[in-house]
Amino acid sequence: MRDIRVSTPSRAYDVHVGTDLLAGVGSMVREAAGGHVVSVITDDNVAPLYADEVCASLERAGYDTYCGVIAAGERSKNYHTWSTVCEGLAQAHMTRDDVVVALGGGVVGDLAGFAAASYMRGCQVAQVPTSLLAMVDSSVGGKTAIDLEAGKNLVGAFLQPSVVVADVGCLRTLSRELLTDSCGEVIKHAVLADADLLDDIASVPVNGLPVDPERLERVVARNVEIKRDVVDADETERGRRQTLNLGHTIGHAIESASGYSLGHGTCVAAGLCMVTRATAALGLTPARVAERVCETVASYGLPTTSDLPADVLFEAACSDKKRHGDAINVVVVRDIGEVEVRPFSLDEFRSLLDLACGRA
Ligand code: GLY
Repeated sequence: MRDIRVSTPSRAYDVHVGTDLLAGVGSMVREAAGGHVVSVITDDNVAPLYADEVCASLERAGYDTYCGVIAAGERSKNYHTWSTVCEGLAQAHMTRDDVVVALGGGVVGDLAGFAAASYMRGCQVAQVPTSLLAMVDSSVGGKTAIDLEAGKNLVGAFLQPSVVVADVGCLRTLSRELLTDSCGEVIKHAVLADADLLDDIASVPVNGLPVDPERLERVVARNVEIKRDVVDADETERGRRQTLNLGHTIGHAIESASGYSLGHGTCVAAGLCMVTRATAALGLTPARVAERVCETVASYGLPTTSDLPADVLFEAACSDKKRHGDAINVVVVRDIGEVEVRPFSLDEFRSLLDLACGRA
C-alpha cells in the first residue's frame, strides 16, 4: 500500500492507494474519523459489487452502519437526490461527529461529499473511490457539488475528507469504456505536471484489460501526488488550483451542452485537445506540444474534438464557475509540465472557441 499525506489548511489526511483494501475500510475510517454512525452512500452499479464488504468492515470496526443507494449517473447529482440522501442521514440519527462514506465514482463522491458538507453544517466524509477517475482526481482535494439545470457543479462546498481509500482492485470490474473515460484526467495530470508520466502512459496505455494492479497503484499514487502538491498550496482555488481546470472550461461546456451523455473524462480529453490546439494557433503553446497532447488522447480512443457548435459551447461556458465577470480563465499549456492561467475577455474566449472548433 502507498500512503500519500495531504495537508491543507482545513485538514490533513491520508490517501491510501493499494489493492484489495476494502475489507480494511472500517479500521481506516475508525482511525481517521472516529464517530459512532456511518452512512455509506453508493450507487446501483457499485452497491451489488462492494457495499456488503464495506458495510461488514465498518460494522466490525464498531459502527452503526446504514447504506443509501442512488441511481448511477451524472443525472443523479441534483438537489432532489441530495435532499433524499440528507433525509437518510437524519433517519440514521447521524450527528456532526459521524461519518458519510462515499463508495463509488465521481458522482457519488461529489454528491455524498456535499451531503456531508451541508448536513448539520458539516459532518465528516471518507472517500472510497471505485473508478479510476475518482481515485486520481475527484476523491482528493475536498471539492463537493451538485449540478443545476444551468450547469455542472454550480452548488457545492469544500470539505476535505478524513481519509481516502483507493482500492485499485475495484478497477477489475470497471468496463473498458469507463476506464478509458477516466484516462482523460490521468492525461491531464501528466500534461500539467509530469513529462515522464506522459511518456509512460503514452507508451503503454493504462486502459488495457485485464488491469495490471501494480502499475495502476503506481499511476494512481503519482496522480494523487500531483494533485496533492497543488491542493496543499491552494486549497480553495484562489490561484494555483485553477491549473487543475486544464481542459475543463471547454470540457464542462461539452458535458453540460451534451446533456451529460458523455463521460466527464471524455469531455476533459476533448476540451484539453481543443484548447491546446487553439492556444497553439495563437502562438501560446508550441505546435509540437499540442500535437503530442492530441496524439496521446487519440491513442486512448478518446475524442480530440467536439461536434457541438462554438456558440453552444460559448453559452455553456458562460454559466461556468470559471467565468469572472467579463473574463474566463483559461489554462494554457506552455510545455509538458508547465501551464499558465490566463484571463480571456468574453470576446477573446469566443474567438478561442472558433479556433478550438476549427472554424477561424
Ligand atoms: N478537479 C479539479 C480540482 O479538484 O480542483
